[in-house]
Amino acid sequence: MTELASRLDDVAQRFDAAVDRANDEQALESVRVAYLGRNGEVTTVRRAIGTLAHNERPAAGKLINDAVAAMERRLQAAYEELESRSFDAELATSIDVTFPSIRRPAGSIHPVRRIIEESCAYFVRHGFAVVIGAEVEPDYYNFDALNIPNDHPAREGFDSFWISDTLLLRPHTSPMQIRTMQEHRPPIAIVAPGKCFRRDAVDARHLFQFHQVEGLLVAEGIHFAHLKGMLTGLCRELFGEQQNVRFRPSYFPFTEPSAEVDTTCPKCKGAGTLKSSPMGCNMCGGSGWIELGGAGMVHPNVLREVGYDPDRYSGWAFGFGVERLGLARYEVDDIRRFTKSDPGFLAQLS
Ligand code: PHE
Repeated sequence: MTELASRLDDVAQRFDAAVDRANDEQALESVRVAYLGRNGEVTTVRRAIGTLAHNERPAAGKLINDAVAAMERRLQAAYEELESRSFDAELATSIDVTFPSIRRPAGSIHPVRRIIEESCAYFVRHGFAVVIGAEVEPDYYNFDALNIPNDHPAREGFDSFWISDTLLLRPHTSPMQIRTMQEHRPPIAIVAPGKCFRRDAVDARHLFQFHQVEGLLVAEGIHFAHLKGMLTGLCRELFGEQQNVRFRPSYFPFTEPSAEVDTTCPKCKGAGTLKSSPMGCNMCGGSGWIELGGAGMVHPNVLREVGYDPDRYSGWAFGFGVERLGLARYEVDDIRRFTKSDPGFLAQLS
């Protein structure tokens, strides 16, 4: 029994020394096999139990099992030590904490959204409410109620995507005029931003899907100067004091009188010609102006349609193209840029 104990002691000491010498996982594994493996040193000692007297065997078994448990703990600790040492080594060689961090490009608010938000904020500051409408509307709201009966040639100006005989993707945000006036009594003061759709050929100034901001003010004693004042103020807000704005007589079935609102062409800066195309600026067609949208005094027929008395109430309305506002504001030379998610372009405008 004492002989077995001293042999065990010897094995344990050599085991400890071997573990100390092992400096990688492979070496540790060889130590494990040599000492704790099926044909390892401990097994040899264990076999010697058979030479002991019967009454000594249980104590000898326990001695060996305790020694094995201690050796396994030692081995486990050595493995963990190795692992943390190799992690530290990896950190030291592959991670340079002074290296500059990777810059993740930050997104920005899209210019179309920004203009919608700023336009709405301008009107909200003046007491207007923001209303949002559907993008699919019956022809009644898009046309009939806006004084454009079925056979009216103005329908062709709104070349539309029809969904059925009576439903269409709205070609303008003006249906919101009708919906708001049908739901509320005057005074009315709203802005209605949103998407619009027209079967237009796409070019530097036209998209088939675009955004408008609609505005409507109806109360007693409203006249054209109120409209001019508010829209001039909006343009000042969006473009600054320098940018020119002009009101040009025009025609819409739902306003009388009507105007179109123009601002200085962002490409030729109002000159109408470019060095590159002396025949005429291809952005504004040589006029030096680009159109932002339409406006006018709400037609009496429209007021009647929603049950307002045109002798008592008057109002103005306008609808501006948001991408058009974007062209002028950011001096962009092609409206299609607003539809491409080019991060370089968007970052410049943010
Ligand atoms: N709805 C018209 C358009 O899209 C613009 C407009 C709105 C004109 C309101 C007058 C009044 O062309």
